[in-house]
Amino acid sequence: MKSIYMDYAATTPVDKEVINEMIPYFDNKYGNASSIHSYGREAFDAIEISRDQVAKLINANPDEIIFTSGGTESDNLAIKGVAYKNKDKKDAKGFQIITCAIEHPAVLETCKHLEKNGFKVKYLPVDKYGIINLDVLEKTISKDTFMISVMFANNEIGTIEPIGEIGKIARRNNILFHTDAVQAVTKNLIDVNKLNIDLLSISSHKIYGPKGIGALFIRKGVKLHTLMHGGGHENGLRSSTLNTSGIVGLGKACELGQKRMNKDVAHMKNLRDLLIKNILTIEECYLNGHPEKRLANNSHFRFTAVEGESLNLMLDEKGIAAATGSACSSKKLQASHVLLAIGLKPEEAHGSLRFTLGRMNTKEEVEYVSNLLPGIVKKLRKMSPLWNR
Ligand SMILES: Cc1ncc(COP(=O)(O)O)c(C=O)c1O
Repeated sequence: MKSIYMDYAATTPVDKEVINEMIPYFDNKYGNASSIHSYGREAFDAIEISRDQVAKLINANPDEIIFTSGGTESDNLAIKGVAYKNKDKKDAKGFQIITCAIEHPAVLETCKHLEKNGFKVKYLPVDKYGIINLDVLEKTISKDTFMISVMFANNEIGTIEPIGEIGKIARRNNILFHTDAVQAVTKNLIDVNKLNIDLLSISSHKIYGPKGIGALFIRKGVKLHTLMHGGGHENGLRSSTLNTSGIVGLGKACELGQKRMNKDVAHMKNLRDLLIKNILTIEECYLNGHPEKRLANNSHFRFTAVEGESLNLMLDEKGIAAATGSACSSKKLQASHVLLAIGLKPEEAHGSLRFTLGRMNTKEEVEYVSNLLPGIVKKLRKMSPLWNR
């Protein structure tokens, strides 16, 4: 049976070069980066090289990067860290955060937690493509707003938000701007200075690095409360012995991602566009998300009178890995909050399927999936009481 992986937004395999770079740090280079002996210094030096590699990817300074356990922690630290610091200030601007309805749960649940703790959160609506309205953003800003958190690109429908414009608005109003760039890094050129980004979240396992490691960019001068008390690592912002092998893997993944960005993006766009063209020939099949302002590797469809979950299972039986919803919410029965926010009815949301491509996919795989899918859709529709044509 074929084995075709098209769920790169959920996670990616670790690049062989990344693995090779990591292995010595499990083996003979096992020092604790805080130790002053040569083992410790060896780990410390490797971590600083990685910090540099991560910083270069987004045009930051290495001392503006701290390592975390992944995208979820980076989002939590960015938002709660700034919020709690702000609460402490005598001259606090206020207690309002502006975010958006289609954020990843790592942001949405963090914001809900803050709401229970005295903060006000405004959730910006999005249009049918998933894009926020900049006029609405400007009107939502009040004297109490201290932070805007809007994702760079959506993990489900792939839509890219107007980050440059949001950054300008944030800067003009003297408000901190955080973006969850977990899906966007290495697929989009990101310059935190040009885009006026103050905090940016990265996750390693979405960019051919290992799981359980991530980074947060914190612009120099931005003050945060720590969420992790302990030995004071990472300038007191994130205590715990540094995960040297993971950090080395993330650094290498960033370096390779930057080096290969043009080639990878061109490759994925070609395949994505072919997949979209082929799949949209299926009767009553529609593209979710923006037709152009979307991640190079994302295609997301809805099929009338078809259960996305059934489609996904039937594809899996044929060895094809796709997704409904995001990886973390796809085991829940609720319709995706992202699809509902772009105006889909619950049954339309349930009839959706995502294919996210990667470096390793081929044209043959795209053709194979494109040829197989119409038959599966037809079979499911035959069984569906909603499809009576
Ligand atoms: C946009 C976005 N943010 C945050 C996360 C969480 O990242 P991690 O799995 O590294 O915690 C994900 C993972 O699916 C994501 O897609």
